[in-house]
Amino acid sequence: MARVLFLSFLTTVSVEATVGQHAGGKVFRLKPENKQDLQFLKNVSHTGKVDFWHPHSIDLVTTNWTVDFRVGADWASQVQAGLEKIGLKYDVLIENVQSLMEKQFDQNATDSTGYNYERYHQWNEIESWITKVTIKNPRLISRFEIGQSYEERGIYVLRVGKRTRFMKPAIFMDCGIHAREWISPAFCQWFVKEAVTNYGIDSTMTALLDKLDFLIVPVINVDGYVYSWTKDRFWRKTRSRNSGSNCVGTDPNRNFDARWCTIGASRNPCDETYCGSHAESEMEVKAVANFIRQYRGIKAYITIHSYSQMCLFPYSYTYSLASNYKELNALARNAVKVLSSLHGTQYEYGPASIVIYPSAGGSDDWAYDLGIKYSFTFELRDTGRYGFLLPESQIKPTCEETMLAINYIAAYVLNHPY
Ligand code: ARG
Ligand code: ZN
Repeated sequence: MARVLFLSFLTTVSVEATVGQHAGGKVFRLKPENKQDLQFLKNVSHTGKVDFWHPHSIDLVTTNWTVDFRVGADWASQVQAGLEKIGLKYDVLIENVQSLMEKQFDQNATDSTGYNYERYHQWNEIESWITKVTIKNPRLISRFEIGQSYEERGIYVLRVGKRTRFMKPAIFMDCGIHAREWISPAFCQWFVKEAVTNYGIDSTMTALLDKLDFLIVPVINVDGYVYSWTKDRFWRKTRSRNSGSNCVGTDPNRNFDARWCTIGASRNPCDETYCGSHAESEMEVKAVANFIRQYRGIKAYITIHSYSQMCLFPYSYTYSLASNYKELNALARNAVKVLSSLHGTQYEYGPASIVIYPSAGGSDDWAYDLGIKYSFTFELRDTGRYGFLLPESQIKPTCEETMLAINYIAAYVLNHPY
């Protein structure tokens, strides 16, 4: 009885569009056990809404064959209900064909310059990407070389925003201050890609780029980054030599002029948090600090690290609260809330001294004390399962969710001029 009802329902709507026009849907696997089951499959097939994956045609199927077939999204639930009704057991092989297709496409996704944003890239690839993306988007991007690293590699800022005759408020964002945190440069590149591909298409991105400039440093600590690819995957510091020591490098995030080396930093060149011989001893730190000092109109400072899933703000060098603590706290709370809305990734937030540990000489505190009152450190995925070895398959979800937080902060800054 139920079977008859279901089949008649199928025939009444069989004139609608075929599966080809409904690319998504679900894939079912089942085994017809008797003539009635086969008849059911034939009837479903005759609607023209079923795509037989295995075998390719229903005509080949006899009892006890394993049949895989796809049903368009608009039809999947009816077919599923029909199978339940006639008691034909089935498995859902693919719940959501559409999303799987997108994932597969994106895994090999490259932009018009052939660049794949879902892979980690060596510095020489990133450097030529910086050149290409600038040339390809002359109305949105300009490139500045703001200095050189200890080993004489270029340090670049990409100014991303619609060209205007007047200076716009700017948001400075840097990546790759610590060498081994590879997801960080991947995010800066992703951000630039999103900006240029969504400008004029997505209204939020268009509005942001019309009214703001983003100043992006894809990799600050270029020497360390190269070293993490070539010699030591877990290298953190710069690669400058230290007089009187065989140990190499300074922690650039202990080298800024913010109560330099007074707490949570080391005077020993062999330590991972060595603060350097003096504030801004590192050429990379000096280049960024000089750029920020001379550039008028930077309203927010964002620095991207990994890992531990945190949104941190000043202070790190003291337990005292920042003067606009309440505002920063609310902003961070909302930023991590919107971030988590996409994939459920949970972030902690708060002043870094309290949430992680006190430490002086950080870029966030330095920028804040310079007068940039929206200053944040993001620690991206994950919480330790993969740590610095976050798989490439997580680049896309990590960058997508982080985009939401950054865009939230950008929109807030735009709406709270100072
Ligand atoms: N994990 C980062 C670091 O140790 C945290 C940075 C927070 N800000 C700071 N100024 N310490 O550098
Ligand atoms: Zn870091």
